[in-house]
Amino acid sequence: MNGVLLKEAADAILNADYFIALTGAGISKESKIPTFRGEDGLWRNYDAMELATPSAFTRNPSLIWEWYAWRQGLISECEPNPAHNTLVRWEERGILKTLITQNVDGLHIRAGSVNVHEVHGDLWTLKCTSCNYRGRLMQPATGIPSCPQCNNHLRPDVVWFGELLDPVIMDHVYTELERADACIVIGTSALVQPAASFPLIVKQRGGKIIEVNVEPTMLTGTVDFYLSGKAGETLPALDELMI
Ligand code: APR
Repeated sequence: MNGVLLKEAADAILNADYFIALTGAGISKESKIPTFRGEDGLWRNYDAMELATPSAFTRNPSLIWEWYAWRQGLISECEPNPAHNTLVRWEERGILKTLITQNVDGLHIRAGSVNVHEVHGDLWTLKCTSCNYRGRLMQPATGIPSCPQCNNHLRPDVVWFGELLDPVIMDHVYTELERADACIVIGTSALVQPAASFPLIVKQRGGKIIEVNVEPTMLTGTVDFYLSGKAGETLPALDELMI
């Protein structure tokens, strides 16, 4: 890792008035959770993008619940890693104002982050396909959960491809993006909208963008600091320079 670049990025964070973070699946890689599009992103020869859709659930709810139960089982055995823990420390120090995550694994909240916006939801939450029931699983699903109110299928209360993000959450997110003058983007391929554009909103207003990723992304050409490396190693290295 380029020490000079790391120090410049650390200084940009410390000099910011309103520093925020955007995370993707890559921040959970050191917690042993597969990413979506990486070499381990496929499951049983399926592409996640063919499973995380309303039509896939209508066609085969059993397969989709099997996929989510597998992910729930995996996540329940995983722990937050040093990258998650560094963001908690920065929030506690008053450096990090808001954390926006695309992840549904819940690891930021388990690590202790408080001001978190889970724009794609939380894979432990449930909603009914017919009525207004909302619920939460305490352990991985078995079979297709049924609604206790109307007995129809329950589905994971997450945002699937082709679905809108929660307008209340998005209202808060855009308010934060308008206030931010620095944003660190960690472990996202920056391919899925609207999250992929969040850093550009900060950039367009003159804010500084720091990207942490093991490989360049669609964003890399526009960021101020590209830190090539694993999140679980790069964030603690940044933290050491932010005394
Ligand atoms: N440290 C940092 N970044 C990493 C690491 C690591 N150890 N390992 C992988 N990455 C990077 C990859 O290079 C890639 O850019 O993490 C990114 C993961 O990209 P995706 O798998 O596309 O995950 P993400 O960007 O979060 O996907 C966005 O798409 O599938 C939907 O809703 C789903 O929230 C998800 C959204």
